[in-house]
Amino acid sequence: MMQTEINIALKREMEQHLEFGGMTRFLHWVRAFMIIFLIASGFYIAYPFLQPDANAEPTTFLQAYYRAFHCIAGFVLICASIFRVYLFFFAKSSSPERISIYQVFNPAIWLRTIGAYLFIAPHPHINGAYNPLQFCTYFALGILTFVICLTGVSLYANVYHEGLGALCGALFGWVEYAFGGLANVRAIHHIVTWAFIIFIPVHIYLVIWNSVRYPNGGADAMVSGIRYVENRRI
Ligand code: HEM
Repeated sequence: MMQTEINIALKREMEQHLEFGGMTRFLHWVRAFMIIFLIASGFYIAYPFLQPDANAEPTTFLQAYYRAFHCIAGFVLICASIFRVYLFFFAKSSSPERISIYQVFNPAIWLRTIGAYLFIAPHPHINGAYNPLQFCTYFALGILTFVICLTGVSLYANVYHEGLGALCGALFGWVEYAFGGLANVRAIHHIVTWAFIIFIPVHIYLVIWNSVRYPNGGADAMVSGIRYVENRRI
């Protein structure tokens, strides 16, 4: 009996939907790897615990190398994030993401979504790529990325004074004044790092939780781009 039920369930016809375009998926992984590297290199900058061998030659620039690679990854993150925002608004393949906005203003969908996470309600039908909780979380992550990048370029302009550093100084010199000094800019940059550290395990846990509880492509959607939706016409 149980086996027959499973067989019937497995025979359901599913349709493929492209949920995330190729560039959106690529930028997701670029940003993910950059953020992990930035957390690790940033904490080293905050607490440089390695001591290079003593050398009479001026060649032991360990901290400078860490900082340089941190900044390179930082600018990659900035470019990837700007391109990602552009795709969200203008890419045809991002229309499932844009459609999700409407559910943020629907209290019934909010309640049913929270109920689904608490195991006390079935998951509501969601139009688009994200439920309202996901949408707000990713929006908040976008704001955090903006703040960490803004404080990052302000710190950068105070370390490198020529070329790109001079340009950042001219464009973002106001950040230092707005935050009440460079020490505050550094503190905010450091504190926001912790917000990312909290976000990452919760994000991975909920992706796996969703994949197991509602098997419709799950985590694979950020690799293949495909989500499976039940074909209701049969
Ligand atoms: C998710 C993104 C990022 C994370 C997690 C991160 C993390 C950190 C941390 C923890 C520090 C050490 C702060 C301290 O001294 O206590 C730091 C420093 C710094 N970060 Fe970032 N950062 C990120 C993005 C950026 C970006 C986009 C830039 C811009 C290029 C940047 C540039 C810098 C600079 C210039 C410093 C100071 C280096 C120094 O004191 O010599 N960061 N970062």
